[in-house]
Amino acid sequence: MSDDRSRVDDAGAFETRAVHAGHEPDPATGAVVPAVSLASTFAQDAVGQHQGYEYARTGNPTRAALERCVASLERAAHGLAFASGMAAEDAVLRLLLPGEHVIIPTDAYGGTYRLVSSVYGPAGIEWTAVDLTDPEALAAAWREETRVVWIETPTNPLLTVVDIAAIAELAHDRGVLVVVDNTFATPYLQQPLSFGADVVVHSTTKYLGGHSDVVGGFVAVDDDDLAQGIAYLQNAAGAIPGPFDCYLVLRGVRTLAVRMDRHCENARAVAALLTEHPAVAEVRYPGLPGHPGHQVARRQMRGYGGVVSFTCAGGEEAALRVAASTRIFTLAESLGAVESLIEHPARMTHASATGSPLAVDAALVRLSVGIESQVDLVADLKQALDAAE
Ligand SMILES: Cc1ncc(COP(=O)(O)O)c(C=O)c1O
Repeated sequence: MSDDRSRVDDAGAFETRAVHAGHEPDPATGAVVPAVSLASTFAQDAVGQHQGYEYARTGNPTRAALERCVASLERAAHGLAFASGMAAEDAVLRLLLPGEHVIIPTDAYGGTYRLVSSVYGPAGIEWTAVDLTDPEALAAAWREETRVVWIETPTNPLLTVVDIAAIAELAHDRGVLVVVDNTFATPYLQQPLSFGADVVVHSTTKYLGGHSDVVGGFVAVDDDDLAQGIAYLQNAAGAIPGPFDCYLVLRGVRTLAVRMDRHCENARAVAALLTEHPAVAEVRYPGLPGHPGHQVARRQMRGYGGVVSFTCAGGEEAALRVAASTRIFTLAESLGAVESLIEHPARMTHASATGSPLAVDAALVRLSVGIESQVDLVADLKQALDAAE
């Protein structure tokens, strides 16, 4: 866990911290990027006397640089890097004890749903899936045993926007922890701790890495005791990222702000095309004024992100045809990287939710809009939609 933040870690605007926070030129060589520190163990001057590192599961200099940087971007006192987004989520959920209860969103990421329902459920953790935009449904879900409310905003794949501040107020009145999966927004667009969240989790596989070449996860927290508890689990359960993976995420983070600006611009243009196209029944993008969460998104986000989902008027068959017909949008799972991707959630990323309350519409298509030319992207999607009519 990294909390020995240097001067630059707190200073300057987001873009400056994204480039500089967490590391400085190497005093020995002047290298301007952190070294990929491969050592699994570190020499001690005497028993228990060392330079901050003993064994690399517990801490590693490259990981520490990443942890300081992303903690700074989330405006958190502590950051912890993990081997995947799911490993990060797992470390947070391990704080729950048998008999305790977690509230998750009805359209949580399929992997979150699977972890809660199929791994923690059988281990005695109670859970309820709730539409977090429905105050009455949420009011009915609280229990004496509720320990965590898990927010994802915007959600994967339906782009539901949840009011973090409103839920944090209700949760804190009950002594319940608020966890926000900030993967879709990234800290550039939304900083959940500033709205009262207690814990932020990320799949750094997505926008933070940004180049489809690394799998990683992250937890950011302000509270010292919570941070100690999660750091204990990071070391005890050991789902840590390797040094090169940490380096790749850190490299991605340095360009996060400029990439996100382009993702948002391109997604807006794609959403505009979809809104007008007759092959499309419904467009889900928080940037559209008609999106039910648009006003909340305006308040809590700097931009509306790079993911756009839509349902095809021609149902599942049309959705599959569109997904098979794009040339620049690559048919693939995942999101948040420089290249544009298209996928069919019901059969791909969210297949594990089939038959559950979290199952997604088979007519749904999800786009991760990349940073290519907006003109090319819109033309590609248009020809695929025309083919689906
Ligand atoms: C919103 C969200 N949270 C968590 C995860 C899990 O992350 P990972 O695949 O890095 O384990 C994903 C992966 O798609 C995701 O989209």
